[in-house]
Amino acid sequence: MSRKIIKSKYDLYEEKIETIAEVPSEKEKPLAPNSKLKYVGKDVNRYDGYDKVSGSAIYTIDKVLPNMVFARVMVSPHPHAKIKSIDVSKALKLKGVLHIITNENTSEIPWYYNTSKLFDKHLRYQGDEVACVAAETEKIAEEALSLIKVEYEIMPHVVTAESAMKENAPKIHNNGNFGRPSEYTRGNFDEGIKQADVTIEDTFTTQVEVHNPTEVHCSVVNWDGGKLTVWDSTQSIFSVRDNVAQSLGLNASDVRVVKKYMGGGFGSKLEAGKYTVMAALLAKKIGRPVKAAMNRREMNLSVGNRPDSNQTITIGTKKDGTFTAMSHIAYGVMGAYPSGSSSYWPLRSIYKCPNIKIDNKSIYINAGRARPFRAPGHVQGTFALESIIDDLALKLGMDPIELRLKNYTEVDQDGDVPYTSKLLKEAYEKGAEEIGWKNRNKIPGSQTGEIKTGIGMASQIWWGGGAPPSYATLKLNSDGSAKIFSGTQDIGTGTYTFMQQIAADVLEIPIDKVNVDLGDTGTMPYSGGSGGSMTAPSVSPAVYDAAIQMKQKLISNAAAILEVDESNLIYSSGNISSKNDSSKSIEIKDVVGKIHERVLVTTGARNENPNGYAINSFGAQFAKVEVDTMTGIVRVKKIVAAHDIGRVLNRKTLENQFYGGVIMGLGYALMENRVIDDYTGKVLTTNLHDYKMPTMQDMPDIKVIIVSEEDNLISPTGVKGIGEPAMIPTPGAIANAVFNAIGVRIKSLPITPDKILEALNSKS
Ligand code: MOS
Repeated sequence: MSRKIIKSKYDLYEEKIETIAEVPSEKEKPLAPNSKLKYVGKDVNRYDGYDKVSGSAIYTIDKVLPNMVFARVMVSPHPHAKIKSIDVSKALKLKGVLHIITNENTSEIPWYYNTSKLFDKHLRYQGDEVACVAAETEKIAEEALSLIKVEYEIMPHVVTAESAMKENAPKIHNNGNFGRPSEYTRGNFDEGIKQADVTIEDTFTTQVEVHNPTEVHCSVVNWDGGKLTVWDSTQSIFSVRDNVAQSLGLNASDVRVVKKYMGGGFGSKLEAGKYTVMAALLAKKIGRPVKAAMNRREMNLSVGNRPDSNQTITIGTKKDGTFTAMSHIAYGVMGAYPSGSSSYWPLRSIYKCPNIKIDNKSIYINAGRARPFRAPGHVQGTFALESIIDDLALKLGMDPIELRLKNYTEVDQDGDVPYTSKLLKEAYEKGAEEIGWKNRNKIPGSQTGEIKTGIGMASQIWWGGGAPPSYATLKLNSDGSAKIFSGTQDIGTGTYTFMQQIAADVLEIPIDKVNVDLGDTGTMPYSGGSGGSMTAPSVSPAVYDAAIQMKQKLISNAAAILEVDESNLIYSSGNISSKNDSSKSIEIKDVVGKIHERVLVTTGARNENPNGYAINSFGAQFAKVEVDTMTGIVRVKKIVAAHDIGRVLNRKTLENQFYGGVIMGLGYALMENRVIDDYTGKVLTTNLHDYKMPTMQDMPDIKVIIVSEEDNLISPTGVKGIGEPAMIPTPGAIANAVFNAIGVRIKSLPITPDKILEALNSKS
């Protein structure tokens, strides 16, 4: 199929992203509906399921190379300090220590996310890198760290946004403690407020959440002459390749990044870590492969988090509930290095409102840097927005869903263009039915007894329609087996599996004839990072295109072999035969064999997104909770997740995504919290005992309802991503359910027992 070059535009986070991409030049016939397919949309087992449960899948953390040595990073114990001197001589004398790098012997190595070096003498948080040791064993490397003598000049620290915003606050960067602000206006907020009959204003706060994926951040690196191979636990192999090549001054083609399996990333693994570059420098010097792995303490200090937020929301409405004005004034901590903390997007986009004012500030503090975290900004923004909307509904005497429907929009509020699809209304209806919405407390908190139950809901909007460029290559062998591969990643979500399903369905061959490979920049065509819920919607059309092209190639070759005109050939179940003469028939494997190529190859491309449409996913989640008014403990009994996410590629991996998103949202709503002691500036929650995460025992009953079918305005596979939408509305729904149970609003996450008891006391 012919290709054309386009300028691809799509929205993600706060950015309007533009890239150049090669796409199919014509709109392709869409993949058949799920009801007509054998594998797509079904409960197909994971391609990598057996390898994972049997332990034979090699994750980066499992990677062992002959002669491999181990790196450990020494980090700053102080939240803010300067290195006056550093003495590694004693550490170097320890038997088994091979090399140590610090600022002194790497000062020419740049680091890309700020202007500083790989090691900066100015340490801006507890966890900032000071030195890195390579040794024969991890234990020796660890011991060597304790022998490095560092003289620090301790500087005053700030670890809260409030103190960092003060005029005389210690400065973390020369230009102060404020990052790039996010401001936006639509219409005229003040005029909108004048038109309002009712106005509501409140402030909501959320905590810092740490990703804590099961697999720690780690890399294994190996040099072969001047060429570097990096096995990395990453969500974006091509980003890591470019980050590492840049830092080391290598050609991108001399760096190969490989990632086959991963134990979670959630946004914290979208770019290279400093440890990868450190490992590469050590490996070069020593001449042996190096493994660098973080420990759980470092995971909680250094590798990213969801920034906190302090959000003041104002909404003006007519008596009938029609919004006339909304504002979102907020700030949050992004840590010690550039990142972002804004949380306004749900308010800006999900409801119809002509007058909007937004001002979000991101603040530097002496703590680990924020990084994207499963729907950055949207989780915290949705909690605040959907909480105040429930309060407003109560004030107006309206049903919370009725108020949301009153302000429903069929067009994108930024551009006034229609959505490719929006089935949020259907999600409200089906979700409400499943949770038993009509049984919620009409008067919040009105139940008697020690245990009070409540029902609440929240809505979500996200992007996740995918975009080019994304490519996939299909090889067909003369024994009828196929291999589909792409430089994408499976971050645990099921990429391997849907690639296999689509290729098998289009070629109409048994699924076990299709082998899948991904995650290697050295040998595979480009696909983007696995973030923004973009993977399945970006990669699935490329796989589809590769398979469609293969089918066409087989038909053209069969026409020559059978001496039948192409237009008289029928492709069915891996066979090509003449419409008129049933004796003229050939299996596709024999086509490959006959033409004396042992393998036929096609490369497919993701299509261009349609002009004149906004692409978003929508959904609503409903929570049923029990609040023990004696202990303040909240138990989430049930979550109903009803979403419009286009086509379901695989029912099992889809439900897995929801289980993960819901339990992560539950942890954020009720318990997870990074705590820093203001006086010492040190993090108190550096392990999974003190940083409390949900476990199996906290798992509610989860019911997933998908209200959509394929959305073919987006792509021939019609898929939208689900990784982030699965989490977004969970905390808001739980918070509203708690309010419905006890009749007092908890405005700060996490909703811990002490806050519940305090709220109940203030009420009585
Ligand atoms: Mo996601 S926060 O784009 O991995």
